[in-house]
Amino acid sequence: MDRSKVANAFAALDAYARRSGAPKIADLFAADPRRFDRFHACFDDLLYDFSKNRLDAETLRLLLDLTRAAEIEPRRAALLNGDLVNSTERRAALHMALRNLSGAPMRAAGEDVAAMVATEREKLLGFAEAVRSGKIRAANGARFTDIVNFGIGGSDLGPAMAARALSPFIADHLRLHFVANVDGADFADTMRDTPVETTLFIVCSKTFTTLETMTNAASARAYVAERLGPEAIASHFCAVSTQLDRVAAFGVQSDRVFGFWDWVGGRYSIWSSIGLSLAIGIGRDNFEAFLRGGEDIDRHFREAPLDRNIPVLMALIGVLYRNVFGYATQAVIPYDQRLARFPAYLQQLDMESNGKSVDLSGARVAYETAPVVWGEPGTNGQHAFFQLLHQGTQIVPVDFLVAAKPTAADETHHRILFANCLAQSQALMQGRPLEAVSAQLAAQGLGPEAIAALAPHKVFDGDRPSSTLLYTALTPRTLGRLIALYEHKIFVQGVIWDINSFDQWGVELGKELAQKLAPIVGDDSASTEALDASTAGLVKAARARRAGA
Ligand code: F6P
Repeated sequence: MDRSKVANAFAALDAYARRSGAPKIADLFAADPRRFDRFHACFDDLLYDFSKNRLDAETLRLLLDLTRAAEIEPRRAALLNGDLVNSTERRAALHMALRNLSGAPMRAAGEDVAAMVATEREKLLGFAEAVRSGKIRAANGARFTDIVNFGIGGSDLGPAMAARALSPFIADHLRLHFVANVDGADFADTMRDTPVETTLFIVCSKTFTTLETMTNAASARAYVAERLGPEAIASHFCAVSTQLDRVAAFGVQSDRVFGFWDWVGGRYSIWSSIGLSLAIGIGRDNFEAFLRGGEDIDRHFREAPLDRNIPVLMALIGVLYRNVFGYATQAVIPYDQRLARFPAYLQQLDMESNGKSVDLSGARVAYETAPVVWGEPGTNGQHAFFQLLHQGTQIVPVDFLVAAKPTAADETHHRILFANCLAQSQALMQGRPLEAVSAQLAAQGLGPEAIAALAPHKVFDGDRPSSTLLYTALTPRTLGRLIALYEHKIFVQGVIWDINSFDQWGVELGKELAQKLAPIVGDDSASTEALDASTAGLVKAARARRAGA
């Protein structure tokens, strides 16, 4: 790819933003009664409204030029063809093959994986249904009531987020729990109200070496052995990994081990056997509907023209804000309580994928890459950090997510929720200028002095951008669509930034240092001499406190 073309496309965008003086979003609406029609895109019932953003037709045209300069289409083809797009690990990134329910051939590094994926999925869903129906039972012959998933990062966030999102679809007799942290409090607190005699433990780890997961799994094995006897372990454990020999060494029965492949990145693995806990909870039909949602978006991403292609549009707006306007963070606010963990899920998806500062050739990039992604559900956020969104010194673009109707909740509550979502995007855009504030205060009977003192505090600058994703209801298929939209958005941004979105070397150093520190922290007589002064000071201070000094 000729990066100078990308640089030129960015220069044109910059120049246009300066020339046009970035017109106010509200003025863009005033000037164009058809703005909503022009600046929203649909896929089936899913609607992406990007009209409340700082862009006009010319900005969009220039952003689409950027996709051509960055060769999005051939790069998308390379991704979908299973080329080795993860260049540093020499792997494909073919999570799309996991939701390829059509069974069409899909190649990872040239090898058609469709049949292999379907076989593993059948094995997984067969097991999940057997646990659900009570065919597979606990050591005491009772039905399983609780599923505890051990995993971290992609082996936790996906199923944990989805289990919460799809709670109305989870069988009444089952409770799903997720233990990630090596902090023993996570496991201990989970087991406090969980009956071990009817609990199935799933050890999820792509590598089967991750310290947190292996530590928790070992504790759980000892816990089961102590309470139910060692012979119960076989009935109470199953595992998901790409490293089947390591799983065997841990001692899980081979018919309870579910695999996936190195071309599935951890943060893209919810579609794989890593979804076992979810599949047990929601059952085969719902799990397949979830996969179908992802498959829907793969088709849309592959086939929709770029100017109607929702993940492409989402990516371009993100790039505009990051690289032209310099906004450092992106908020994701689901007005959907069951999507409470969606922002955390997206943090890994986005920040682990695109939080990079060297390009594909290894050269340092001279531009910003991934924003900080954060968020909490609305309306809760309104009573916490929305103050900053409305009146803070930084501008934070927001993605609102909202359903047209509740999946399983009170309709009256939902109407209030929905009104609040719309009100927030409206307030961010419109703001409230000084004159309007002053008039409002005068109408309340305040005198000129009081108005002059109070009014500046009540001014909203407005012109703060947001997008809204509207869907009918949060069903398994919708959730699959939402996740896949963000996956492809992140991919497109990675292409524009010329970075490898599929490795994560940035997590390694901390892991290595923790390994080195563990013996020093674990032995209070170990020397701290080789450590930097701060680390040594903290180790010694903790020792003193443990010793009661
Ligand atoms: O430390 C980061 C990471 O490697 C993630 O990319 C991954 O999702 C997570 O750890 C868990 O890894 P594993 O599934 O191999 O235990």
